[in-house]
Amino acid sequence: MSVSRIPRFYKLSVEERHVELRGRLDLDDDDLRILESGWHGSLSIDAANNMVENVISTHALPLGLGLNFRVNDRDYIVPMCVEEPSVIAAASNAAKSVRDGGGFTADADPPIMIAQVQIVGVPDTNVACVEILARRAELMAACDAAIPSLVRRGGGARGIEVRTLVASSEHEPGMLVVHLLVDCQDAMGANMVNTVAESVARRLAELAGGEPGLRILSNLADRRLVRVRCLVPLHALETKNFSGERVRDGVVAASRFAELDPYRAATHNKGIMNGVDAVVLATGNDWRGVEAGAHAYAARDGRYRPLAIWRVGPGGMLQGDLEMPMVVGTVGGTTRAHPGARLVMKLLGHPGAAELGMLIASVGLASNLSALRALACEGIQRGHMSLHARSVAMNAGASGALVEQVARELSELGDVRLERAVAIMARYTATSDALADAGE
Ligand code: MEV
Repeated sequence: MSVSRIPRFYKLSVEERHVELRGRLDLDDDDLRILESGWHGSLSIDAANNMVENVISTHALPLGLGLNFRVNDRDYIVPMCVEEPSVIAAASNAAKSVRDGGGFTADADPPIMIAQVQIVGVPDTNVACVEILARRAELMAACDAAIPSLVRRGGGARGIEVRTLVASSEHEPGMLVVHLLVDCQDAMGANMVNTVAESVARRLAELAGGEPGLRILSNLADRRLVRVRCLVPLHALETKNFSGERVRDGVVAASRFAELDPYRAATHNKGIMNGVDAVVLATGNDWRGVEAGAHAYAARDGRYRPLAIWRVGPGGMLQGDLEMPMVVGTVGGTTRAHPGARLVMKLLGHPGAAELGMLIASVGLASNLSALRALACEGIQRGHMSLHARSVAMNAGASGALVEQVARELSELGDVRLERAVAIMARYTATSDALADAGE
């Protein structure tokens, strides 16, 4: 049986899931201890105190497994860290349908990041551009000299581009921005490209006859894109109430809605980021950077657009395509410093950054498919509500087996409000008090 299909995994207790994982993956006692203690339990207060400032504690979120994922003919179980009910189940469900069409196919650009150096007070922007580009070789060598260990690992400077932001005129001095393109290999790269920008800023300003301004990476990482495609056969889309054709056409119409309306595109992309962020967070990567890049890319031509679109593909199958920047690393940073994130990397089979990026984008496309499929057919609330009922039951004070029992009653009533859950809990408490009084 392939590793990413674990039928009835959701029916197991958490302890049974650990046993199942241990049997399938090469997990040792330390790994199991991390899972048992809770992912955040694996991060000591001491380690946390060394990561950020003013630490008073650590913060926990659920970590679950996205199942059924197959990307470029390789199976993955995907750790997902997210507080929203139904995200993991929905992504796993969509991944199963995609698997029926052969899985996701993905490709990634080389890991090129952009460092920006702003130059202000430029007397003649045309001359400055020529001066800078004429020293391309010298400047690239200076960039490489600032990051010797990255160069040893095969990365380093790959190009220099100059953009005029304000052309010099009688009324206003010119402003340029120089883009330094740096291949970051398997690192996320922020620190390295910032170092590069700072190390050559003065020389760039000198060549331009101006002053250096900001020196920082751009989160609009449009040189580090990933692309994912999936084809879903009609039989995998069919439900009890809807034919495969009906679901496919509903998803295509939902895609067109997002393509035509930025209000809808924002929500469409939020559904994609449900999956993307959950994996970015689980792997200890910078989800704010990925978010910033995604939305800037979605608006790159001046209008906010969906990151994924859906069409009728070959043989009438549903075809989904997603393209977005993906700035994640698998070496250095939190991915190494956080014991839980290290275990997540192990569960993923220690992917490189490009492989991880393609997997993350596939989870995003799966999340998008599951949302559009539900929205285009019976609506999102039914599935959502049965899962939401569990957290409402817990908020009303249920624990252990009562969570499931109260949640089931709420779902059957079709009323998943806290007041209703509190009333159900009061009934259970009264019954157990009465039994206790009767000495049972
Ligand atoms: C909810 O977290 C995400 C959705 O709103 C996405 C969508 O509307 O496509 C369901």
